Amino acid sequence: MQALALRQSAREFDPTPLPEQTLSDLLWAVAGVNRPALGGRTAPSAMNSQEVDVYVALPSGLFRYAALDHSLRLVGAVDARRVTGYQDFVDTAPMDLVYVVDHARMKLVPASKRESYAFAAAGAMAQNASLFCASAGLATVIRAWLDRAALAQAIGLNNEQQVLLAQTIGRTKIMAMP
Ligand SMILES: Cc1cc2nc3c(=O)[nH]c(=O)nc-3n(C[C@H](O)[C@H](O)[C@H](O)COP(=O)(O)O)c2cc1C
Repeated sequence: MQALALRQSAREFDPTPLPEQTLSDLLWAVAGVNRPALGGRTAPSAMNSQEVDVYVALPSGLFRYAALDHSLRLVGAVDARRVTGYQDFVDTAPMDLVYVVDHARMKLVPASKRESYAFAAAGAMAQNASLFCASAGLATVIRAWLDRAALAQAIGLNNEQQVLLAQTIGRTKIMAMP
């Protein structure tokens, strides 16, 4: 109830990087394995397709979250934060998540339904992140205003992959006293 009461969108972020343990906990909350025997995840997906990957844009590089071994895989040693959105705060906020569907994993879902189901799954993951942030005293905003072509190029997506949403996460910016 407290996390839900605190959930809100933020658009000003302190640039300080998050501690590694916080990043680890956040990624587990977003898309981690919570039922190891079944490979079940913290967020639902249509027919358990697990089709949405989470990419992480940090100053040190662009990574993909590998849920099965709870690790970050380096995609490129580039600071892609700026590419994840048009709004000024993305240049300096410490990290962004980018939700990407791989349509190749959705063969069991009727083709006409795949995109909407993937957006729903990404929304569930993003809400996991938002509630984690609320519980951990962090600031976040889900973003759909994106240059999807630029992001797809920066990540190196193939024709079956599609950028869905992004989400900026960081500490709340403390405003200077006048
Ligand atoms: C699908 C979706 C897309 C959104 N895209 C953006 C965005 O591109 N940029 C932004 O600043 N906020 C974005 N938002 C956040 C909304 O503006 C925000 O949730 C809304 O104003 C309500 O405010 P609240 O989240 O603080 O309750 C998005 C929210 C959703 C659900």
